[in-house]
Amino acid sequence: MPLVTMRQILEEAAKGGYGVGAFNVNNMEQIQAIMRAAEELDAPVIIQASRGALKYSDLIYLKKLMEAAVERHPDVKVALHLDHGNSPQTCKQAIDLGFSSVMMDGSLMADGKSVASYEYNIEVTAEVVEMAHKHGVSVEGELGCLGGIEDGHGAGIAIDDDSHLTDPVQAVEFVQKTGIDCLALAIGTSHGAYKTMRYDKDGKALPPRLALDRIETIEKNLEEAGYKAFPLVMHGSSSVPAELVEEVNKYGGQMKKAMGVPMEDIQFGIKRGVRKINVDTDGRIAMTAAVRKVLWTAPEKFDPRDWLKPAREALYELIKGKMKDFGQAGHGHEYQPISMADMAKKYASEAAATK
Ligand code: G3H
Ligand code: 13P
Ligand code: ZN
Repeated sequence: MPLVTMRQILEEAAKGGYGVGAFNVNNMEQIQAIMRAAEELDAPVIIQASRGALKYSDLIYLKKLMEAAVERHPDVKVALHLDHGNSPQTCKQAIDLGFSSVMMDGSLMADGKSVASYEYNIEVTAEVVEMAHKHGVSVEGELGCLGGIEDGHGAGIAIDDDSHLTDPVQAVEFVQKTGIDCLALAIGTSHGAYKTMRYDKDGKALPPRLALDRIETIEKNLEEAGYKAFPLVMHGSSSVPAELVEEVNKYGGQMKKAMGVPMEDIQFGIKRGVRKINVDTDGRIAMTAAVRKVLWTAPEKFDPRDWLKPAREALYELIKGKMKDFGQAGHGHEYQPISMADMAKKYASEAAATK
């Protein structure tokens, strides 16, 4: 089965009322772990690559690995998505590589750090939509900025500063003016393991304070404007499981106490229109814990397969758990994929109808 568009995956998720994990990859083991979990659970899935991942894999390796993944797992409904595209040029590069979906993150300037103006965001996002839809490729936009910067992406916004959260009124205009297929919200999440440095009196890490009520308002505003069940996206959705952090530290790691987004908060979002849930950090921690364990407990080992295999297994287990919690498990067989060429025709006829 060829790649599926993100638009179709998210529209189906909206019909079924479930969320779909969008998992970041950089290498073969991560792709294998996610595809195996998706096949075994009959789960549609989004695999995404950041600009860093494209650079790391020299573009061509990632493309070929995804071709292998699709061939090896012909029944899995999988979209290949560019995560946080920083410019129309980067999005074009991904479209040319064969991605079925791109994110134009115009909430930040092309440096991936400076906060962009609303006008700039609309301009670059609409430009990408026009280019991508001609190829049947879906587009994610982002309005408002995530917090944090520690993984190199983000504006470094303080956790208590809510001036960069998504404005529920602007959200409707942004969707109207850009023509995006799904909207990433800023509701107080951030990338990485250290989403908050809040601790209780006993030193226990506390979860980030999220503006969950905005999801509900944005969903309602979009619905009133005629965008029924418009797919929303939650970035920075790793939960940073304490047991994985402990495992890393047990075998020589030095991670600080941390807490991510509780699964209940994600499920609250899913009930209110969140359809795409971005997870990278939890997979990184799971793999690192597995690698550390091998190298710490069996220092005589030097065959990379001795630590890559447990790392792949750990990611597979983690992803399976997320797929069940997000609700995507069991839904893969429910629809037939629309080809990119047919999706391009669909976009063209939708555009003609609104003129
Ligand atoms: O955007 C954030 C993702 O976790 C990707 O991170 O840029 O280090 O690949 P990365
Ligand atoms: P986490 O760092 O919480 O996994 O978020 C990943 C993400 O949003 C990628 O776009
Ligand atoms: Zn993100």
